[in-house]
Amino acid sequence: MFELDNKKIVFFGAVGYLATPIIWQMAELGADLLLADLNVARAHEIALEMSRKYPEQKFASAYVDSGDYKSIEACFALIRDSFGKLDVMVSGISAASNLTVEEFSPELMNQTFTAHLTGSFLLARNSAALMPDGGSMVIFSSMYGQVAPDPAVYHAPMKPNPIDYGMAKAGLDQMIRYLAVHWGPRNIRVNGVSPGPFPNPDKYPDDRDFIDRLAGKVPLRRVGRQNEMAGAVIYLASDASSFNTGQIINVDGGWTAW
Ligand SMILES: NC(=O)c1ccc[n+]([C@@H]2O[C@H](COP(=O)([O-])OP(=O)(O)OC[C@H]3O[C@@H](n4cnc5c(N)ncnc54)[C@H](O)[C@@H]3O)[C@@H](O)[C@H]2O)c1
Repeated sequence: MFELDNKKIVFFGAVGYLATPIIWQMAELGADLLLADLNVARAHEIALEMSRKYPEQKFASAYVDSGDYKSIEACFALIRDSFGKLDVMVSGISAASNLTVEEFSPELMNQTFTAHLTGSFLLARNSAALMPDGGSMVIFSSMYGQVAPDPAVYHAPMKPNPIDYGMAKAGLDQMIRYLAVHWGPRNIRVNGVSPGPFPNPDKYPDDRDFIDRLAGKVPLRRVGRQNEMAGAVIYLASDASSFNTGQIINVDGGWTAW
């Protein structure tokens, strides 16, 4: 039911913290994968590792910057050459500033919206064009597209999660619903996943107090583990979710439940 045998999957933001365990799980479940990321060197390394481990399947890598429309076109030319068609598109790109409300310029705000919103729209529309037999799209949103960051969690000099990020994620949530309705008749399903707090230990190595403050806001009383997004993403990518579209699954330990 959760098998991905012979499914052709493109994963944007493929080598990030949360994406990495998911792409490996997808390979294990039989998928052919094209790993697209700003960090194309790492994507290339992983594609080679996967080719060695699963020689019957096809793996490729590509550079993409969702804020640069030409790079999106080039990336889709490569997807067409490698796979011809797509069954699944996942996008886990992450673009935001690290600014407070007072610090923003219109240019910096638009930079985030270009990469996160217009870019994701183009990734989705180009993917749909390669899904003549239907398909599934899974887009990473965030709890901060639904609720504002609690300033009490972010002690100075740390800044609260920035406003451009939350605005963009809220926009993505609406894009997911709109495109699900638009492409429903073509059997292209469009869903989202909304992670809660999954602090990357490389970014917060010594900040136990911050992690504890995050955990204190979670009904399950802990932050998310790196591999805990995989279940929801694979469910939405696979035929197990064949009657789901326009939905956003919160994977947040209950953060948004109270
Ligand atoms: N980690 C969390 O706590 C958390 C919480 C809520 C939502 N999310 C969302 O989950 C997704 C994955 O988060 P993560 O923590 O693994 O982030 P990450 O920064 O580790 O990974 C993001 C990946 O996307 C790539 N990327 C960034 N901008 C890009 C662009 N413009 N074009 C192409 N590739 C780009 C990066 O190179 C990186 O490999 C993101 O969408 C993020 O907003 C994460």
